[in-house]
Amino acid sequence: MSKKKLRSQEWYGRTGKDGFIYRSWMKNQGLPHHLFEGEKPVIGICNTWSEFTPCNAHFRELAESLKQGIWEAGGFPLEFPVMSLGECSIKPTAMLFRNLASMDVEESIRANPMDGVVLMCGCDKTTPSLVMGAASVDLPTLVISGGPMLVGRFKGKKIGTSDVWRFAEDYKLGKLSQEEFIEAEAAMSRSRGHCAPMGTASTMAAMVEALGLALPDNATIPAADSRRKVLAHMAGIRIVEMVKEDLKMSKVLTRKAFENSIMVNAAIGGSTNFILHLTAIAKRIGVDIDLTDFDHFSSKIPLIANVQPSGEHWVEDLFYAGGMPAVMKEIESHLHRDCITVNGRTIGENIASAECYDRDLIGTLTNPIKPESGIAVLKGNLCPNGAVIKPSAASPHLLVHKGKALVFENIDEYKARIDSPDLEVDENTVLVMKNVGPKGYPGMPEVGNMGLPAKILEKGVKDMVRISDGRMSGTGYGTVVLHVSPESAIGGPLALVQTGDWIELNVPARSLNLLISEEEFENRRKNFQPTQLPYERGYVNLFLDKVNQAHDGVDFDFLQGSSGSEVKRDSH
Ligand code: FES
Ligand code: MG
Repeated sequence: MSKKKLRSQEWYGRTGKDGFIYRSWMKNQGLPHHLFEGEKPVIGICNTWSEFTPCNAHFRELAESLKQGIWEAGGFPLEFPVMSLGECSIKPTAMLFRNLASMDVEESIRANPMDGVVLMCGCDKTTPSLVMGAASVDLPTLVISGGPMLVGRFKGKKIGTSDVWRFAEDYKLGKLSQEEFIEAEAAMSRSRGHCAPMGTASTMAAMVEALGLALPDNATIPAADSRRKVLAHMAGIRIVEMVKEDLKMSKVLTRKAFENSIMVNAAIGGSTNFILHLTAIAKRIGVDIDLTDFDHFSSKIPLIANVQPSGEHWVEDLFYAGGMPAVMKEIESHLHRDCITVNGRTIGENIASAECYDRDLIGTLTNPIKPESGIAVLKGNLCPNGAVIKPSAASPHLLVHKGKALVFENIDEYKARIDSPDLEVDENTVLVMKNVGPKGYPGMPEVGNMGLPAKILEKGVKDMVRISDGRMSGTGYGTVVLHVSPESAIGGPLALVQTGDWIELNVPARSLNLLISEEEFENRRKNFQPTQLPYERGYVNLFLDKVNQAHDGVDFDFLQGSSGSEVKRDSH
């Protein structure tokens, strides 16, 4: 095999003025000339480190392990920062900026002299934004995740992010004092890493592992475990080899890899956010998947991993039980075993010797943790382009339900009214929230699992049917219909629901309908007044103009597809 000239040599290998300019300033970092001679692949380390993103705050240290591996394998590492999105801090919602971060990533990779790239991902949006951006360039690319936190402990019990919602309800009911609430904060986040349950961050880390974009065990090794550093070191070695093998992202991200990922997401009871992000990634790399694929491929797979919020335990425990390879081994008969992964081996080879060490954590196809998992995609007159629900997080008795709507026109109205003693509501009511979709909020926040009215909670009721065009935290639970498309702010049928209307949800039949006559529907449609979208300048203006709907992944229309890695013009 003749050696291909490295991409970075388009910069560093030049003679005359251009070569001088591309190399000279780099040398102010103490880099010797031989590094620029084209023998060592330049590996970009795309780092989402930020102290405002606590889940990724350990990434500079983790990057050192990566660099050791890259040097060891004969590469030349160069680390660069990109926009970092911390789920817990960013207002109004990190999702508003996922596409912005992806643009930063895409252009930073393409514009710079690198031959391969490692994406350092952790907190929820940092994974999809980096993978989306990198997919639109298509260099050899490997993902390393930061790893989950160690499980928290509070009053003798194990706790993690999925308890936040319970704590909030107990606090509302006066069962938890202000002091105890504050104590629980520190007890929950006691180590480096991202959320401890199978929330969106761990779902994304499992997604890249199932897609073949990360090394085996990427999803579950705790952030605080030294084996996380070993994984980074090995990732550093592998990315250099990937450049030599020209193992580009598009060779890994095939249609079959996406199908595997959907099946694995069902096996772990992964976040509903997975749907939006995987769809957006697929559209970047040019693979055609749609909502029906999520239902089709996940309906074959029961819940295998007994991890919160669908199960009982934590991602840390899943690692000790055998991790993702052991989970994937259980559904091996469904998976495409021949998909190539970043370590140069196939998925089938990677899981061949995987073992389960704890049957409390990992079920089997014949003896699963729960028989139903994954994502159910609903259709009906309320959601002509689809809506989703996660049956494993819902209450079985509400999966077929008819109830009267209680409508909140927006989040402000919800907050103002939800705990009012004279709210007309009982446990059969269907809570409907409008204007929390991509354009309506804007940014499609995680408010779909809206808390129940105080007067219902006081009765001891734990769940009600809730419907919105928003999202739900990967750690959330309940009978929550999300991602209703088209959204209400652009006149989707959700906008036409009125308090007192009957709504029928039937998850086994995959339907969601507003029970009003066609005539009434038309009347309301005629009288519909679109919401005034709130922002007028800057990035948000671009977002409102270009964002597509939930069933298309909430990406910008102009970002779908790829522009490749070539840049024809020089800077001087
Ligand atoms: Fe970062 Fe949960 S807040 S992963
Ligand atoms: Mg989240």
